Amino acid sequence: MRILSIDTSCDETAAAVTDGRRIISSIIYSQILIHKKWGGVVPSLAKRAHEERIDFVVHEALRRAGIKNPRSDIDSIAVTYGPGLAIALEVGIRKAKELATLYRKKLVAVNHMEGHIYSCFAQNRKGNPAREIRFPYLVLLISGGHTQLVFLRDHLQYELLGETIDDAAGEALDKAAKMLGLGYPGGPVIERLAEEVAHRDSFKFPRPLSKKNDLRFSFSGLKTSFFYFLKRSNTTSEVKNIRELASSFQEAVFDSLLMKTDWAIQKTKINRLLVGGGVVANMYLRGRFRALMRRYQGEVFFPPYRTLTGDNAAMIGIAAYYKALKNQFVTDISKLDRTPRLSLS
Ligand code: KG4
Ligand code: ZN
Repeated sequence: MRILSIDTSCDETAAAVTDGRRIISSIIYSQILIHKKWGGVVPSLAKRAHEERIDFVVHEALRRAGIKNPRSDIDSIAVTYGPGLAIALEVGIRKAKELATLYRKKLVAVNHMEGHIYSCFAQNRKGNPAREIRFPYLVLLISGGHTQLVFLRDHLQYELLGETIDDAAGEALDKAAKMLGLGYPGGPVIERLAEEVAHRDSFKFPRPLSKKNDLRFSFSGLKTSFFYFLKRSNTTSEVKNIRELASSFQEAVFDSLLMKTDWAIQKTKINRLLVGGGVVANMYLRGRFRALMRRYQGEVFFPPYRTLTGDNAAMIGIAAYYKALKNQFVTDISKLDRTPRLSLS
């Protein structure tokens, strides 16, 4: 089943053609250079950039998939309708409605976080990796806007086990990087700096909500304590080491992720873990999850290709495939609206 999918939930304009779990083409036009100088995503600039690029991105996805006649060669259209930035989501939804009408196709509305889960099941054109899907899974979603532990009983059946009560993990890394003057996005820079000091945890920042079995996350207290630490060390002219600060902050964030996941495994007795979202691009973090799952004689699965960790439309197409199999199409496309705070279950 060939699906043309679109995601414009944040700062990537993305379109893809998928066939079941297989990615035939995937185009991602990143807006990082536009937002970098503002230290974060500016919604009005994101909207404009999506509008300027959406046609090109859709056209490229179809062209690279070798699709000349979408009306006969595409089965349906999929689009992210939340969560995300309202005025950014609108651009993708409008385009998807237009194409669904033009090509006379059914529309599948996908939750962006559902997409991040399904990114772990993606395959290339040839069907690699061949790994089978075997439920149930425990899922950890770690992106710029979300940090969630989810129990995935079967396709499209989500039960939220715990989520952040304030900032998301990626957002915390971005804010710490900003305080250190490292620019946006912060995750990749912090990863590099931490690597250079072998992930030393010299400053031992707090690990919030660390009472056993609390599956909620919290990163805003950590951010505040980091802020005051920087301020104090500035005024007392204590020697500051950016690498050790970045590394210690990253350790605090990652320890929380690992600790809560560990408790969720103990609680659910599930030792098959999926980890999706931008933060899982971090290779050191992947190593820590592998070590954790070895302890439980289990397995951990990440998005199999690097372009699938951050935002992309291929993951939306794959989630849409399983929705289409269950006949979960939009019944009245004129009524489909963006839902910025859409939740999983
Ligand atoms: O999933 P994503 O691309 O967008 C959202 O849906 O939010 O996630 C973006 C987040 C940013 O906070 C970014 O700093 C983080 O993913 N990120 C990383 C790395 N690459 C991106 N965090 C840690 N290490 C990385 N290598
Ligand atoms: Zn995302």
